[in-house]
Amino acid sequence: MSTPSTLAGPGTLAAVAEQTEGILAEFLTRKAASAAAHRMPDEVTTVLRDFLAAGGKRLRPLLCAAGWHAASGHGTPDSVLRVAASLEMFHAFALIHDDIMDHSDTRRGKPTIHHALAARHRDRRTAAAADQLGASAAILIGDLALTWADELLHTAGLSRRQLTAVLPLVDVMRTEVMYGQYLDLTSAGTSSTNLPLALAICRYKTAKYTIERPLHIGATLAGADESLRAALSDFALLLGEAFQLRDDLLGVYGNPALTGKPALDDLREGKHTALTALALQRANPTQADQLRRFLGCPQLTDDQASVARNIITATGARDTVERMITDRCEQAEHALTHAPIPPDTAAALSHLAHVATRRTT
Ligand code: IPE
Ligand code: IPE
Ligand code: MG
Ligand code: MG
Repeated sequence: MSTPSTLAGPGTLAAVAEQTEGILAEFLTRKAASAAAHRMPDEVTTVLRDFLAAGGKRLRPLLCAAGWHAASGHGTPDSVLRVAASLEMFHAFALIHDDIMDHSDTRRGKPTIHHALAARHRDRRTAAAADQLGASAAILIGDLALTWADELLHTAGLSRRQLTAVLPLVDVMRTEVMYGQYLDLTSAGTSSTNLPLALAICRYKTAKYTIERPLHIGATLAGADESLRAALSDFALLLGEAFQLRDDLLGVYGNPALTGKPALDDLREGKHTALTALALQRANPTQADQLRRFLGCPQLTDDQASVARNIITATGARDTVERMITDRCEQAEHALTHAPIPPDTAAALSHLAHVATRRTT
């Protein structure tokens, strides 16, 4: 396996993504062989392999590698790439369960795993029984992705020192994302105007596991101390919030052909986001009544969704969220210029910040 010595540009980041994908493919090929040897159903590994191969920006592996370089790690050793792959496997777990919880039909332009599994098992069941089976089977495949994320980590070939340093960060990352998802679920459908809560959700369900902890984990593998981790957090949390704010905008205004995700999910679930909190704060009484009726309505039609979008835009909430993204990106860039990291790593992080926040996918 080649080992890029720096992260000095998109070409090198692309090499990290490719190597991570190679590790995941090889890992699942071994799991498939082992399943076959034990006469276990092959659809578990097939479905997970197809999900991982269907795309994704690979931000978490890239940030893990960037963290390694931020702490002046040399090359990108196989063990670091395996930890990076374990973060992508953890992300797969989070997405598979998220799509069940959010009742999402598509992910990365394909049917979500619970839908794909329901379709596979529809032959000899009622539609309701097949849907229930699809959800249950997808929970198990998500559980396996979480278990295999662990396996990739503890078989990565880390030294005892590296493993001891990194495990608490992995533990805390998992706890943070679960609490973030919990807040996301329990605040949905409440038509809340609470902006600090919406930002806490951004931070916990996304910013930490997507940006901050992957950077910390990579940096800690290279021996980073608390002060370097704190400097990385200054950049990462701002960028992570901007990333989720972009996701919230895409969830309402995005093009499903590009995002690979449905256009109505967030509105139908009545997700509590900065966008909806601001819109509800600023709406006049007629607009607020309509928004409250539409947000969280499971049967929301395309026409009603357009009305809701127009109201949100008319309140100025969309522009404000765009500004919040820009502000956070600028502050994150500023934090980067003060971080004690090699210039080529700072350039790679700046590139990733663009990928994460100026995206349509
Ligand atoms: C989607 O993450 C879930 C969020 C945390 C917003 P990504 O946007 O990184 O998803 P992929 O991996 O590129 O599909
Ligand atoms: C996903 O959040 C966050 C995690 C998977 C932990 P969302 O529900 O907002 O993201 P999408 O829109 O489904 O990707
Ligand atoms: Mg979702
Ligand atoms: Mg969700």
